[in-house]
Amino acid sequence: MTDVLSRITTWSKAGFILLSSRHFLCAAAASLFFAACVLVLQAGGQNTRSAAKKNQAGDWVVEDGRKTFESVCVTCHGLDGRGGERGPDISTRAEVQQLSDEETLHVLQTGKPAAGMPAFGTLGPPKINAVIAYLRVLQGGRKPGPIPGNAQRGKLLFFGKARCANCHMIGGSGGFIGADLSSYGSNRAAKEIRTAITDPNKDLEPRERTVLVTMRDGRQLTGIARNEDNFSLQLQSLDGTFHLFSKGDLEHFEYLPESLMPSDYGSLLGATELDDLVSYLVHAARAAKKVQASGTKSELEKEED
Ligand code: HEC
Ligand code: HEC
Repeated sequence: MTDVLSRITTWSKAGFILLSSRHFLCAAAASLFFAACVLVLQAGGQNTRSAAKKNQAGDWVVEDGRKTFESVCVTCHGLDGRGGERGPDISTRAEVQQLSDEETLHVLQTGKPAAGMPAFGTLGPPKINAVIAYLRVLQGGRKPGPIPGNAQRGKLLFFGKARCANCHMIGGSGGFIGADLSSYGSNRAAKEIRTAITDPNKDLEPRERTVLVTMRDGRQLTGIARNEDNFSLQLQSLDGTFHLFSKGDLEHFEYLPESLMPSDYGSLLGATELDDLVSYLVHAARAAKKVQASGTKSELEKEED
């Protein structure tokens, strides 16, 4: 404690000496300038680092970047970045691919006005970093894996042709044999969602399996077991009706190794349609979160992560 105090007095003495010096202002200005430079450098580094980090995690960043790219950059560089009348190829040309994130950031912030490339500093660092993340996807020739489809078309499929809504509910409409999928798409990678649709029997939990009941008179019924104890079984059949059985009255009942969910969506639906469904599930979850977020801030924060 005394040590700290004595240091403070030493410092204030030093300050007094500095203040009394005619060079104080120059020194202060120089150190302020230096500090500012360090801050700017740090900020630049952090932005690109976090862009890379978020890009790894997935998904929103790349998707946001795609949106910006398709609304802002597309007129000159084309949808795939391979160039148009007013801008060069920025996706397959090695010179552009080799620009580091920092260099690309610099190009985007300051533009090359003389050459016809506008500055986009006004978009702000998050958007610019997202665009760069998306540009890397274009450059890698990878499919923009994260959320490629069209949510609007996905919704039509969900409630229409694909009949998901026969069994699943989203946003309060649909069936109830399957899980409510309103927030299923949050925090899940596109690939995982896609697999859940095309391969429903993968990692199926026993309670999610179909139950097949055979009654004494030979009639059979399939559904999901909603309740089971030693003596009784409550089954919900596909039409949503609940059936209560006393086990002693049944000829037989068994859990089938499969889900009630059709396992042939991978062949019934095209690749684009599957993308559209995935996109819809992700966007629906996002919308659900927004609604919740009006009450709880932490949900919003999670979405931004
Ligand atoms: C008005 C047309 C126009 C728009 C809009 C535009 N660019 Fe460009 N861009 C250009 C032109 C022209 C060049 C070539 C500049 C040159 O030759 O140095 C260029 C070059 C680039 C380069 C390469 C820079 C280099 O040093 O080689 C990148 C990267 C780039 N643009 C990214 C983008 C992104 C990302 C967007 C959207 C945020 C965008 N551009 C929007 C016209 C445009
Ligand atoms: C015949 C009813 C039925 C249809 C039709 C159906 N599902 Fe399912 N689905 C289920 C059941 C049952 C499960 C497994 C139990 C559960 O999670 O509800 C399931 C599971 C899922 C899961 C995993 C849920 C989780 O929490 O793990 C997703 C995602 C899903 N379905 C999406 C879809 C989509 C998209 C469609 C339309 C292309 C569809 N389902 C059509 C019944 C159905």
